[in-house]
Amino acid sequence: MTDTVVRTRGLTRVYGEGPTAVEALRGIDLDIAGGTFVVLLGPSGSGKTTLLNLIGGIDRPTAGEVRVDGVDVGAARGAELARYRRHGVGFVFQFFNLVPTLTALENVELIAALAGAGTPEALAALDDVGIADLADRFPGQLSGGQQQRVAIARALAKSAPLILGDEPTGALDRANGAAVLALLRAACDEAGRVVLVVSHDPDVARVADRVLHLVDGRIVDDVTNPAPLGAAEVVAALTAGEEVTA
Ligand SMILES: Nc1ncnc2c1ncn2[C@@H]1O[C@H](COP(=O)(O)OP(=O)(O)OP(=O)(O)O)[C@@H](O)[C@H]1O
Ligand SMILES: [Mg+2]
Repeated sequence: MTDTVVRTRGLTRVYGEGPTAVEALRGIDLDIAGGTFVVLLGPSGSGKTTLLNLIGGIDRPTAGEVRVDGVDVGAARGAELARYRRHGVGFVFQFFNLVPTLTALENVELIAALAGAGTPEALAALDDVGIADLADRFPGQLSGGQQQRVAIARALAKSAPLILGDEPTGALDRANGAAVLALLRAACDEAGRVVLVVSHDPDVARVADRVLHLVDGRIVDDVTNPAPLGAAEVVAALTAGEEVTA
């Protein structure tokens, strides 16, 4: 039995008040065990980003609870909430969000330092994603796929039990997207992390253990993938018949 890393109960988020209030989330009950890769699908405006923001501690629920690895994220305030965001969760975004005037290594060190880790951890994370040799390059000297590897290294360097992503392969071609998915799959399998990503990329559903469908602020479908692709087979399986560019 693997421990539950993410747990929500009746998680609700209403934006605004009165007649113009928007019920973005209408009572989400969700349990995600360690080592699980979850993809979140749903139409525009269904509440996907809102759910990630609440789980990531960058927005607060109107009602209900959200716990991550024992931390009551929805109720945490001040120093406790800051500690959670630094140590408890890593983020990977569609457009990488690297600091352009810092090298790859410095970008990873910056976030590692917030979590109390140093240069060795940052270098190890760059090595894990296969670009230790590019540590001294600036983001502008890296391809999109390489920049997203730096962003993943940044999330990995803090050893958080949870990685959240909003369309992490959205700006990448298929080969680079597959490489990123292989890294995220490995983060689940090797370190027992939870990876929770919003994505409309059909390749992501082939790698995920669970596919959640959100409609109008509710989970309407929760499907287990009986045979998710393993980290070692992702790139070959997803790019079969296509030319792979580094
Ligand atoms: N800060 C906000 N203030 C008011 N309403 C908001 C805010 N953020 C989101 N909403 C509303 O909440 C609902 C859910 O938004 P959310 O961004 O979570 O959707 P989404 O599923 O991520 O959509 P997309 O696929 O377009 O990114 C939408 O109706 C949106 O307009
Ligand atoms: Mg969104």
